[in-house]
Amino acid sequence: MKRNIAVIFGGRSSEHEVSCMSAANIISWIDKSRWNIIPIGITKEGRWLNTEKLESIRDGSWVDSKVTAELSPDASRKSVIMTEPSGEVTDVPVDVIFPALHGKYGEDGTIQGLFEIADIPYVGCGVLSSAVCMDKFYTKLIVDSIAGEAGVRQAEYVGIREYEARDMDAVVRKVEERLSYPVFIKPSRSGSSCGVTKALDRFQLMEGIERALEYDSKVLVEEFILGHEVECAVFGGGFQKPVASGVGEILAAAEFYDYDAKYNNPNSVTVTDPVLPGNATEVIRRAAVRIFNALDCYGLARVDFFVKESGEVIFNEINTLPGFTAISMYPKLWEAAGVPPTELVERLIDNAFERYKETER
Ligand SMILES: Nc1ncnc2c1ncn2[C@@H]1O[C@H](COP(=O)(O)OP(=O)(O)O)[C@@H](O)[C@H]1O
Ligand SMILES: [Mg+2]
Repeated sequence: MKRNIAVIFGGRSSEHEVSCMSAANIISWIDKSRWNIIPIGITKEGRWLNTEKLESIRDGSWVDSKVTAELSPDASRKSVIMTEPSGEVTDVPVDVIFPALHGKYGEDGTIQGLFEIADIPYVGCGVLSSAVCMDKFYTKLIVDSIAGEAGVRQAEYVGIREYEARDMDAVVRKVEERLSYPVFIKPSRSGSSCGVTKALDRFQLMEGIERALEYDSKVLVEEFILGHEVECAVFGGGFQKPVASGVGEILAAAEFYDYDAKYNNPNSVTVTDPVLPGNATEVIRRAAVRIFNALDCYGLARVDFFVKESGEVIFNEINTLPGFTAISMYPKLWEAAGVPPTELVERLIDNAFERYKETER
């Protein structure tokens, strides 16, 4: 008998469109002979809609769906409540959830909390690790405690809170005491490079902080790292010892890997198994698993680093629901390691059930 899997996508984050692209791929990779797929799109306003056709996710017309599909928090129901325009209501049972969401309210532990309340198994990291990994500021604090033993370091940084930015002169002094230009400025909780800028001088620093504050009330100003930009995929957790894929490199067709370079510029290329200085590849693969464990990750995460020409490896950030778009590294890296996307998706779903069994204790 086929079981029901809900794939949730869209959402109220700045990565709404990216999530739709990820969901369309994930749905196309799920084995239809084993699973009934219930696609649930969350609009930018936060409405939960059911959509029948994969095409409607690709072309964006799903937002016109007239059928609402709301996950019930009622643990005794374990279902999605579908409401037709006629007012007819049906309870559709859900066996497992694949959140194909990125960023705020999708990757930050909030929706994972709803899944826990609803008592339904779900793919990926739990509440704590999702919340910590979403917050670059907090991630730094945790990774600092293991960076040495993991054999990597992090970029030097200054953290700024919104109230501090009211006295911009003091903020500039604080940054300039610790870092020299150029610097990178980023919202603590964002993604897909939204709100990330590079500043060459004081003026651009102030502009960049204002811009990052549009995305989050916490902002990081970081040392600029010149090097290869590389990513490593981790899978596992629970009964399965986490394993790292090979390493992939991003060759951004812009000054850095901004939103446009990521999703709109066909000249941005990703390569698997790049030639990296020294033994960087092995350092990265080991560090990726250590960081995954330190942040209490489960199921999947993509761990991103920089590698300097000297061979030095610098941890940049971790993504607990990495992209599954056509250009995304997570599925690409596993494919390069011999795990095709259809199998990867199946393994992730199995893994969701394993965690559920663990939490029954
Ligand atoms: N400290 C840094 N030095 C150099 N480039 C950086 C630095 N931090 C970020 N970048 C560039 O900005 C991009 C986006 O920053 P990142 O920290 O990965 O945030 P996001 O969560 O939005 O992906 C990176 O992919 C990289 O190209
Ligand atoms: Mg990134």
